[in-house]
Parts: sequence; C-alpha cells; structure tokens
Amino acid sequence: MNTKTILITGSNSGIGLEAARKLAAKPEWGIIVLGARSKAKAEAARDNIMATTGRSADDFRNLIVDLVDPASVQAAVQDVAQQGLRFDAVVLNAGGMPSANGGELQKVPSGQSKLFAMNVGGHAALVNGLLEGGHFSEHATVVFAASEASRGIPMMMAKAAKLPDGYADVDAALDAIVTGDHVQKVDDMYEYGLVKLLGAVWMTELAHRHPSSLRAIAVSPGMTGGTNAMAEMPSLMKTMMTWVMLPMMSLFGMAHKVGNGADRYLQALEDESLVNGGFYASPGSKLTGPLTLQSTTAQPLLNDEPFIRAVGRLMDRLPQAPVAAK
Ligand SMILES: NC(=O)c1ccc[n+]([C@@H]2O[C@H](COP(=O)([O-])OP(=O)(O)OC[C@H]3O[C@@H](n4cnc5c(N)ncnc54)[C@H](OP(=O)(O)O)[C@@H]3O)[C@@H](O)[C@H]2O)c1
Repeated sequence: MNTKTILITGSNSGIGLEAARKLAAKPEWGIIVLGARSKAKAEAARDNIMATTGRSADDFRNLIVDLVDPASVQAAVQDVAQQGLRFDAVVLNAGGMPSANGGELQKVPSGQSKLFAMNVGGHAALVNGLLEGGHFSEHATVVFAASEASRGIPMMMAKAAKLPDGYADVDAALDAIVTGDHVQKVDDMYEYGLVKLLGAVWMTELAHRHPSSLRAIAVSPGMTGGTNAMAEMPSLMKTMMTWVMLPMMSLFGMAHKVGNGADRYLQALEDESLVNGGFYASPGSKLTGPLTLQSTTAQPLLNDEPFIRAVGRLMDRLPQAPVAAK
C-alpha cells in the first residue's frame, strides 16, 4: 500500500494533538511528522498517540520549530531536507491568541507581532521554504487553522476584520499589521480575527498560484474546548473562560469537543468537494456545526482580488519584518 506523509504544526497540544491521533488511526497516513517547539514535546505527543493507536515509533518523525523565530523555521526546512521528507499534506495548526492585556501587541525579536508570527508569519516562511526545496508531492494539501473571528462573531461582539484606515496603500497596511504598529489599544479578539484572515486569504492566493499542484484550504476548527488555547490569557479571563464560559457554551451547543475540532481538519484533507482556496468555518454567525464555505457578504475581503494579490506579495517578502510607514 502506498502511504502518505503529513506534517502537523503544534501537534503536542489541543486540536493538533487530536488531529495527529485521528490521522494515526488511518493506515494510509504512513508517516506523521509531529511539529513542536521542542524534542521533548514532540516525543511526548508521539508516545501519547502510540499508546492510544498502536502505531509504532517508526511511523513518526519530529520537526522542531519555533514559528516566531525565522532561524528556527530555516533550520526546520533544512531538517526536512536532511530527513528526505516529501509532504502529501501539511496542517498549519500551531497558533493562538497571545494576550495584549488591552495594551499594545507583543513583539518578537524579528520585529513581527507575536500574534502574526505564531499564526501566519512563521507558517508562511515554512511553506515558502518547503516549496522552494521541492518538499511537497504533486497535489499536496495545505490546511491553515483559521477562525470564525475573521468574519465576525456577533454573540461575542466581535466585528468582521477589515484593513486599518490611514495607510497609503494595501501593502503599507499589511506591513503595519505584520509588525502590529497599526493599532495602539488592542482588542484581542479583533486582532486575532484580522491575522487569521490574512492566513485564510493566503490559502486563496496559494491555490491561485499553484492551481494544478496544490490544494490550499483554510479551516476553522470552531469553538473548541479541552485545548491549551487560553494559556496566555490574563488569569481572571482564563478562569472565567475555562470554568464558566466554555462549559455554558458547550451546554448550549456553542462550543464542541477537541475531537470535533480535529475532525474539521480531516474533512479538509479528505473531502475533495471542498473549494480549493476556500475558507471554511461554522455556518452563518455560529461557532460550531457543519463545515461551511464562508460568505463573502460577511467578509468581503475574501474575494477582493487586489487584497488577495497583496497578501501573496506579503507572504513572498516574509520572513523579514517590514518597517511600517504610515
Ligand atoms: N480552540 C479554539 O476554540 C480555536 C478556535 C478557532 C481556531 N483555533 C486555532 O486552532 C489552532 C490550535 O489551537 P488549540 O485550541 O488546539 O490551542 P493549543 O492547545 O494552545 O495548541 C496550540 C499549539 O500551537 C503551538 N504553538 C504556539 N506558539 C508556537 C510557536 N511560536 N511555534 C510553534 N508552535 C507554537 C503550541 O505549542 P506549545 O505547546 O509549545 O505552546 C501548541 O502545540 C490555533 O491555530 C488556534 O488559533 C482554535
């Protein structure tokens, strides 16, 4: 049997770990490459998955990468070459919402905002390196972990993301989002939705750019409990979310289990009827439910061609952090 090779970033925790476990239960995925920030985390994930699936250690590889560090991403691409890996699929799952505590966005040494670097910037540098090195097989699939926050979540009073005002052109506005200099007083959920939107539109641009050789799909796992997503929230907000909000939301069908979030990635990998370059998430303004192509009425930037091309240009000039000019 011909088996396939898949990489999952952030595979040591939450939805990424659960997705890796579900893939390991399917023999067609012969090699599962566990992306994590340290060898210890990747090996703990491997041991955990082996214990529940009966797969052997030979079926797993590690890829150690810290997505906010361009040198680490470069080393990871070299490691892929050294290990002789060629991917049939890559799930760009790592990410989250580092809290700004109402102040400015945190920055990492590259000059990018941590929010952008961990969700999108590091993944773009990784995928660019894998493409340049020929590490994708023909018709490989790239799945990006998107979020409903990009098209707005009315029940959480989160508005749909849009480009910041006051910039000379779309490229300057995107550069400012990369560094986080477009905003002084941060609304965490809004900024998270904006950065995830750039990731979702990047998938559209990748699909346009490689129409016959790549499938690129943005998928929100939906509102998912049982993950570490709240680790960096301020402690009061974290306690409220963990013990009050999420249990209440689960009770009313507004949040689902980690397995449901992981199933959405598997659907993106397996369901050939999904539109290449599409952004899939919960239907309407919901946070759970069947995976649904997101409406361009709710988020007009999803089919704004000049914006899509600008996101492509942005991804080409990463990992260098641009200097934002207003
Ligand atoms: N949970 C939800 O409701 C929800 C909804 C929509 C979208 N999402 C998205 O789904 C994805 C998975 O989230 P989750 O809920 O499963 O959260 P999680 O349990 O916190 O998992 C996040 C993963 O990303 C990794 N990561 C964080 N920063 C990284 C970096 N700089 N370099 C490499 N890896 C890094 C983490 O590694 P460490 O363990 O080393 O920190 C962890 O493995 C994220 O992209 C999130 O934004 C989640």
